[in-house]
Amino acid sequence: MDASESPGVTEGVDALTLTTPGDGKVEKVPNGVEATEDDSDVVDPWNVASTNDEGIDYDKLIKRFGSSKIDEELIARFEKITGKPVHHFIRRGIFFSHRDFHTILTLKEQGKPFYLYTGRGPSSGSLHIGHLIPFYMAKWLQETFDVPLVIQLTDDEKSLWKDLKIEEAIKLAYENAKDIIAIGFDPEKTFIFNDLDFIGKCPAMYQNMIRIQKCVTFNQVKGIFGFGDSDIIGKISFPAVQAAPALSSTFPFIFTGKKPVHCLIPCAIDQDPYFRMTRDVAPRLGFPKCALIHSSFFPALQGAKSKMSASEQNSAVFLTDTPKQIKNKINKYAFSGGRATVEEHRKLGGNPDVDVAFQLLKFFLENDNKLEEVRVAYKNGDMLTGELKKLAIEAVSPIVEEHQKARKALTDETVAKYFEIRPLKFAN
Ligand code: TRP
Repeated sequence: MDASESPGVTEGVDALTLTTPGDGKVEKVPNGVEATEDDSDVVDPWNVASTNDEGIDYDKLIKRFGSSKIDEELIARFEKITGKPVHHFIRRGIFFSHRDFHTILTLKEQGKPFYLYTGRGPSSGSLHIGHLIPFYMAKWLQETFDVPLVIQLTDDEKSLWKDLKIEEAIKLAYENAKDIIAIGFDPEKTFIFNDLDFIGKCPAMYQNMIRIQKCVTFNQVKGIFGFGDSDIIGKISFPAVQAAPALSSTFPFIFTGKKPVHCLIPCAIDQDPYFRMTRDVAPRLGFPKCALIHSSFFPALQGAKSKMSASEQNSAVFLTDTPKQIKNKINKYAFSGGRATVEEHRKLGGNPDVDVAFQLLKFFLENDNKLEEVRVAYKNGDMLTGELKKLAIEAVSPIVEEHQKARKALTDETVAKYFEIRPLKFAN
């Protein structure tokens, strides 16, 4: 796309579409999905797929998207400034990429304010364990930095993209909110909103959406998201809805001062296109660019070629599953990196990198030493697939069980508190 064509979403367009210097040619396929010639990983807000057993090549993705790797140096600075070890998701490369995270650390160092923003598209009534990842990260960041957090539930998005009535989408948003609240966010520092209710109550958000919409052309969203001429206009304008919460003036009841406040967004990397667009627009509207930290995808039980999906019953461990269901699913479906026979496995060892039970431990077993012990034992054949699966079941089951307890204990009043339009408490 010619940059002179419009006032220009420069970062959005260059990083996203079609010119990615140094990484081979990027070709565009009809439904807006990008694929490079030399690999067939597909990553956009609607599709994630790889042909490789180990899943997406994340180093390549960083190059293609133009983000930065979360490297040792960044982690060291992070730990120095916060005075504590980083979350195991960061240590283990589950959150592997960022944009401008150094800026956030500098703000922390200087005692200056910023806030966190994340969200969820409520497409199903029940979440699966993979959905927990960005929220666990958001919670840990909120506690570590003592900052406010806003959580957007895009019931509008899901109503536009799926065969979902407005009323149903709102209901799902509310059900999903309970799962999010059950994770344990501080009600004094956390605001949750669903677009279909909130935007009508908050002129500031609508005004920011329109400001953003004035900055981005149809050509640009076509380039970024792959929209086509026969897509409904709701889809075409939706990116402005997801962008608006990254501008602090969207929430005048939280950010009462006139000065724009920086925003940090923990999200899965498939959401990056929205924020490339946002980062491009923000300075033109007098706001700082939002910073991001990106997670990799949670593998489907069938293996890392696809991500865990709420619409594929057997691909996922749901937060509503019983201990028995969890055990059966993992035993039956979790892709094994083990060998065909016990003899072979003992001799040659297993492959933890493709083994989904091991991947589950990587996400949910906090003890680094234990994880490393398991990895070594599996790799050299001392541990068999069945034993590894047992450990994965033991790691996942209590998380789901405790989640169910916490969710059950929620009252409507508690939930309503998070949705209330109100100031939040934070140090700055
Ligand atoms: N589009 C996201 C989804 O479908 C939901 C979302 C809205 C979000 N705002 C966000 C995700 C900010 C991460 C960060 O799940």
